[in-house]
Amino acid sequence: MATEPLPLQKTAAAAAVDIAPVPATSQTGRPLVRFDNVVKRYGDHVVLDGLDFSVRRGENVTLIGPSGSGKTTILRLLMTLEKVSDGVIWVDGDPLSHTRAPDGSLRPATEKHLRKARKKIGMVFQQFNLFPHMKVLQNITEAPVSVLGMGRDEAETRARELLDLVGLSGKTDAHPSQLSGGQQQRVAIARALAMQPEILLLDEVTSALDPELVAGVLELLSDIARNTDITMLCVTHEMNFARDVSETVLMFDAGRVIESGSPEKIFTDPAHERTREFLTAVL
Ligand SMILES: Nc1ncnc2c1ncn2[C@@H]1O[C@H](COP(=O)(O)OP(=O)(O)OP(=O)(O)O)[C@@H](O)[C@H]1O
Ligand SMILES: [Mg+2]
Repeated sequence: MATEPLPLQKTAAAAAVDIAPVPATSQTGRPLVRFDNVVKRYGDHVVLDGLDFSVRRGENVTLIGPSGSGKTTILRLLMTLEKVSDGVIWVDGDPLSHTRAPDGSLRPATEKHLRKARKKIGMVFQQFNLFPHMKVLQNITEAPVSVLGMGRDEAETRARELLDLVGLSGKTDAHPSQLSGGQQQRVAIARALAMQPEILLLDEVTSALDPELVAGVLELLSDIARNTDITMLCVTHEMNFARDVSETVLMFDAGRVIESGSPEKIFTDPAHERTREFLTAVL
């Protein structure tokens, strides 16, 4: 199948990778992601309680909030690893969590719909989650070949470009267990980018790393944020990084967004007492 170039502009770090045209929908101004009254329950426990927020194409958003407030749940819902209990998640104007029936009504999404929708979205986890039995190169080529139907040669060429981008061109034949945490996380980032996602979800991706490895991974992500059209939703406690890469910070508590604004505004002059308390605890 024909594939679009990776959505990376040419920079020092991304020199080997082509620029993707910005899709026409970006001019329409409609949100790329919209949570519309989303409820998520586990049994009686209401984690998300009528959550509303939206993200524009190309916008980099940081999600902050106390432990257990539902940040990972939001990303897992977007990644279609979990199903909403109520409400609708929209991606680029289409329902992610639902399928449109012939009469226009929304029904819970079928597996086929979810498989298609998932292609737009990539996720990097706190614990890397690489396939342990596969070498680095295969970790990156597996999904493009099996999910996107990309030819193996093309997938390998792109995987090598991406490994170059993340500074690991010498590690194609290593197994994940032979890499440091920082190197594994770089492979996980390359693996997510290999799917050419429009939306990249990052869930505390540096919190399992040794302190000396954190800066390098954050620098790589900053580079991707600045130089690509990818829309990033990022859960992080790295406030300097959030300030550096995000246009918008969303503060969650008790299943809702209690405050949103620019990093400058939220970090220096939050409107909400709960945000102030949270920031005092983490900064
Ligand atoms: N599979 C599950 N079954 C039951 N409860 C769950 C499940 N996943 C998450 N929860 C609950 O949902 C709530 C939100 O969890 P979530 O992981 O989204 O929080 P978080 O904001 O990411 O927290 P942290 O900052 O600690 O990572 C928690 O109370 C958690 O116990
Ligand atoms: Mg979490």
